Amino acid sequence: MKKDLLEISRQARALLQDMHLLGVRDLVMPPGIETVSELPVCPLHVTGIDRGGSVLCRQETLEEIRAELENCRRCPLCEGRRNIVFGVGNPQASLVFVGEAPGREEDERGEPFVGEAGRLLDRILFAMGLSRGEVYICNVEKCRPPQNRDPRPEEIAACEPYLKRQLAAINPRVIVALGRIAVQSLLREQTAISRLRGRWHQYEGIPLMPTYHPAYLLRNPAGKREVWEDMKQVLKRLREES
Ligand code: URA
Ligand code: URA
Repeated sequence: MKKDLLEISRQARALLQDMHLLGVRDLVMPPGIETVSELPVCPLHVTGIDRGGSVLCRQETLEEIRAELENCRRCPLCEGRRNIVFGVGNPQASLVFVGEAPGREEDERGEPFVGEAGRLLDRILFAMGLSRGEVYICNVEKCRPPQNRDPRPEEIAACEPYLKRQLAAINPRVIVALGRIAVQSLLREQTAISRLRGRWHQYEGIPLMPTYHPAYLLRNPAGKREVWEDMKQVLKRLREES
């Protein structure tokens, strides 16, 4: 019995040392366990230990992240939502669009950009020679803010680890941030979007192009010309790197 316990403790210590070496700082927790201080950010899933005693890891999948968000009550937006709007598209997309937050139609259907702004985004995609199924589309905030008000900093902070993990799981070659909220929260910048757009930035090492939000374009159609300039840069970058 004592020998077994010693063996278990030796194994556990070796496992933790291996994980530390691999840079794993948070362990995947079974559902139902609440963390109090910080949301778990665990981009790697431990899948086993090989014969040499090394820990085997793999990147978590979008479906695993989605499952973790089910019935999410991490911020007050859960009170008014009908559906969590996680994201749609190709899980291996080279190009990801990140918007702000679901509106009424998105909340009803559980899908991002299906309202009027979404139809404009579809036309932008069409002009780029792309379709919804080829790219990935999601939002900073997964639940609809009441009356479509701007999401509050604490609501963005509650959702951010999930967006970060989503982008890590997809690992696209380019991210397009749509509108002020997406741009400012991904880049942690307060600079006006009119000054950030049109130039390359980086998010976790991935090239990021800020541009105007399709909802803004519906009110200010003159901005479409600038968005098209930005999308041409995106297409050029995708071609260069393929
Ligand atoms: N606006 C957004 O930012 N996201 C959506 O999903 C819809 C409208
Ligand atoms: N202001 C915004 O909030 N978004 C835009 O896309 C442009 C201006």
